[in-house]
Order: sequence, then structure tokens, then C-alpha cells
Amino acid sequence: MNFDLEDYLSARRAIVDRALERYLTKRPGVSESLWRAMRYGLFPGGKRIRPILTLAAGELFAAKQKELLPFACAVEMIHAYSLIHDDLPALDDDDLRRGLPTAHHVFGEGMALLAGDALLTEAFHLICGPATRSLQADLTLALIRELGRAAGADGLVGGQARDLEMEKTRVDIAMVESMHERKTGALILASLKIGARAGGARAADLKKITRYGQALGLAFQIADDILDVAGAGAALESGRKEAKKATYPAVAGVARANHRLRELRDRAVLSLSGYGGKAEPLRAMAVYVAQRALRGAATSQMQIQEMNG
Ligand code: IPE
Ligand code: IPE
Ligand code: MG
Ligand code: MG
Repeated sequence: MNFDLEDYLSARRAIVDRALERYLTKRPGVSESLWRAMRYGLFPGGKRIRPILTLAAGELFAAKQKELLPFACAVEMIHAYSLIHDDLPALDDDDLRRGLPTAHHVFGEGMALLAGDALLTEAFHLICGPATRSLQADLTLALIRELGRAAGADGLVGGQARDLEMEKTRVDIAMVESMHERKTGALILASLKIGARAGGARAADLKKITRYGQALGLAFQIADDILDVAGAGAALESGRKEAKKATYPAVAGVARANHRLRELRDRAVLSLSGYGGKAEPLRAMAVYVAQRALRGAATSQMQIQEMNG
């Protein structure tokens, strides 16, 4: 198979970035600080994995890119809001995001909070508007509902609440996985299902995409937590909240986290058997998500041993 994931990701990232610029034009009278804080959360941005998943799932079912882009960008706006809020002192109290000072350090807590609120709200404003007019109204409504559920109490926000509660209690792996499914998995799954549904995927296809998305969503957070282990020493020293987090490697150990990650990667890849070369971008993305962390695994293990003396 001659598929180059790096090329694929950078081309899709450029498409998403251009669309975000297009959708997020400043309207007269909007507070300059609010506007700058909103843009700070979105640009230059990160990997753009979620909107790319929307595009890739849509492409699998021959959806039109023009119809996918507003949803893909709405998903990324929700992701950006969730990170601004996640970094606030009331939650993870983080100083850095993507190597830069977190939004509340640059704009103040109040403005960071509001920028998150605005990005979340603008996401829904976007997909309720003219950008999605070429899709059938009942389908658009169903996709908006799908995104609303994934972002809300049953999904991302509910998962963040569990994450917060779990700092104070003993937890087992099942609890950690269920929290991950919400805080990270729900939006990833919705990104995929929205793309597939916009392309008219049938129930049997949606089932496969769902199996893929559930495995990928959980894998994504476990990978993120394995990668974070490398920074855990610093967090422990400064007493920051990250040190108290219920994560898969913290509860089960890095070796089991790696094992689970490989298992989920394989499940994600397997759920797309039957689609042939058309599903290669999605398969390759699952492998990429896992490999990012598995490559760093040897280092993390060494650092944990060092931390344990
Ligand atoms: C980070 O998400 C937060 C998690 C849910 C693990 P990403 O790793 O997608 O963040 P960016 O947007 O690429 O920086
Ligand atoms: C972020 O989870 C998940 C959401 C924002 C919903 P984390 O707190 O584990 O992610 P990072 O490590 O800050 O990116
Ligand atoms: Mg967090
Ligand atoms: Mg965090």
C-alpha cells in the first residue's frame, strides 16, 4: 500500500486551517481581547486530529468536503475550548500548552474562560448557519445533536467532571476507561460518526465506524497519558494537579498501558477490514496515535523507575 500518512495529514491540516480562518472572521464590535484569546486557542493549533477524522470518515463514504468542513471545524473549536478550560487553575492548572503559555497566563483567567465559552458557542452557531445549508435539514439537525451530546454531560464535560472527582478517590481501570471514553472518546467518536453520516453511511457501516472510534478514542487518551508520564516528575515536584490524576499508566502501570494501547490500536484497525484501500487513512491514523506513545514508552519506563528510586 502506497499511502503516505504524513502527506495526508499535512494536506488535511492545511484544508482545516483555511476553513477555520474562513469561518472565524471577526465581526464588528467584538471585543478585541476576546477575539485574540479565541484565536490563541485555535492558531497555530495542534495536530487537528479530530477534524481530520471527520474528513477521513466522510471521504470513506464519498461525502463532499464542502459539507464536512463546517462540522470538522466545529469539532476543532470545541476541542480548542475544552483545552483552554482544561488548563485553567480550577482544573489542571497548566502553564504550557503546545509549548506556549496557556491562555489564562496570556489573557487572564476571566478572558480565557470567556474565550472557551465563545469557541463552544461559535461552533454551534457555525453548523446551524448557511455553511451547512446544502445538507438536508433533518440530517444537519441530527449531526448537531450528535455533537451536542458528545460535548455535554454525557460526553466531554461529564468526563472532565469524573476526572475531577477521581482526584479524590481510589479508582480502578474500569473507572479510568469509562472516564476516558467520555472526556476524550466521545468527541473523537462524534467526529467520525458525523463524517460518516454526512456521507450517508448505513447502520452497518456506522457500527464499524463506532467500533473503530471507540477503540481510537480510548487509545488516544491512554497514549496522551503515557506521553505525559515523561513530564510527571516535574509535576510532582511543583505539586501540580497533574500528579494526582487518575490515568491509565498511573493506575495500571506503563507496561499494561502499553499493552492496552496495542490492543486498542489492533481493534481499531481490524474494525475497518472490508473497506480495502479506501480506509487506509483511518487505519494509518490509529497506528499513528498508538505509535507516538509506544515510541516514547522505553523512556517513560526508565523515568518511572528513576522516580521510584
Ligand atoms: C489533547 O488533545 C487532549 C486530549 C484529549 C488528550 P490533542 O493531542 O488532540 O491536542 P492538540 O490539539 O493536537 O494539541
Ligand atoms: C484533556 O485531558 C481532555 C479534555 C480537554 C476534554 P488531559 O487533561 O489529560 O489532556 P492534556 O494532557 O491537558 O492535553
Ligand atoms: Mg485534564
Ligand atoms: Mg490537562
